[in-house]
Amino acid sequence: MTLLKKAAVGTAHGKIILIGEHAVVYNMPAIALPFMATTITVRITEKEGETHITSDYFTGYLSQVPEALYGFKEALIMVANHLDVSEQGLNIHVDSQIPSERGMGSSAAVATALIKALCNYFDYEIDEDTLKNFVDVAEKITHGNPSGIDTTVVNSSNPIYFKKNQPPAFIPLNLDGFLIAADTGIKGNTKEAVSDVGKLVDSAKSQTMKVIEKIGDLTGKAKVTITENNVLSLGEIMNQTHRLLKQLTVSSDELDHLVQAALQAGACGAKLTGGGRGGCMIALAKTSDHAKEIAQALTEAGAIKTWIHPLNSGVDVNE
Ligand code: PMV
Repeated sequence: MTLLKKAAVGTAHGKIILIGEHAVVYNMPAIALPFMATTITVRITEKEGETHITSDYFTGYLSQVPEALYGFKEALIMVANHLDVSEQGLNIHVDSQIPSERGMGSSAAVATALIKALCNYFDYEIDEDTLKNFVDVAEKITHGNPSGIDTTVVNSSNPIYFKKNQPPAFIPLNLDGFLIAADTGIKGNTKEAVSDVGKLVDSAKSQTMKVIEKIGDLTGKAKVTITENNVLSLGEIMNQTHRLLKQLTVSSDELDHLVQAALQAGACGAKLTGGGRGGCMIALAKTSDHAKEIAQALTEAGAIKTWIHPLNSGVDVNE
């Protein structure tokens, strides 16, 4: 029998893809970091009648959710079916610091936090594999053809070296460097970007696959530079990767502008992160003071928010 709790909570966090986005869809590796400065909490309480959702993105009844939340809705229905309970009669409150549609994994994080909150609410202990499978289904609805990297990292406390359909390898990150993330303020569109890369693969296969394979090689090299604590080489690899992502048409003028601003401020490297076409970029600095200067330069260049993330497993700083 399922015991009903009066209130329950589920949490997850955002992520930063250090390198390998888009190429990871084509079985290349990628490296992603949990981004603890951005968290998401889903609270569930009991109510009469139709389930109601309150969030910054959308507030209204389950039957009215916009297309961008169809994955979220499906996650709710899947869990309800799995537990043999009704998806109605719930008040779902989403409190998110992860900017949505900015390449920080908000859709995977919200689905993860929702599923955890629901399982808590119905007093069900979900195992990691089932949780991941449910989030993967929700992500397929949201993103079309996701690699699964977001699903894995938003529920992990460790950086991961990820390859599609393989168990992720956790990689120790102990670099004398700081990552600065900056939000262009423009919504990205991962589904469209992934689909457009797919069209490029279809129309110019060998040329596009060469670019994708180069990103894969750079990701392998990035892994080595991380082990060797070589911040300067990692920065150069990030620069090369950004140029390749541009060739895949997933950058934007605003992203290129912030990448340029970070490099002018002396960053060791800079690139877009996540799906692109808007959303966020990242830059690399050797010291905390320099990271703050770069964050300031990015704000002056138009970023609406910046974060500094130490790469030695320290605590994130909200700028
Ligand atoms: O934009 P995000 O945070 O969903 O990141 C997507 C990463 C991609 O490699 C572009 C797609 C994927 O499914 O791996």
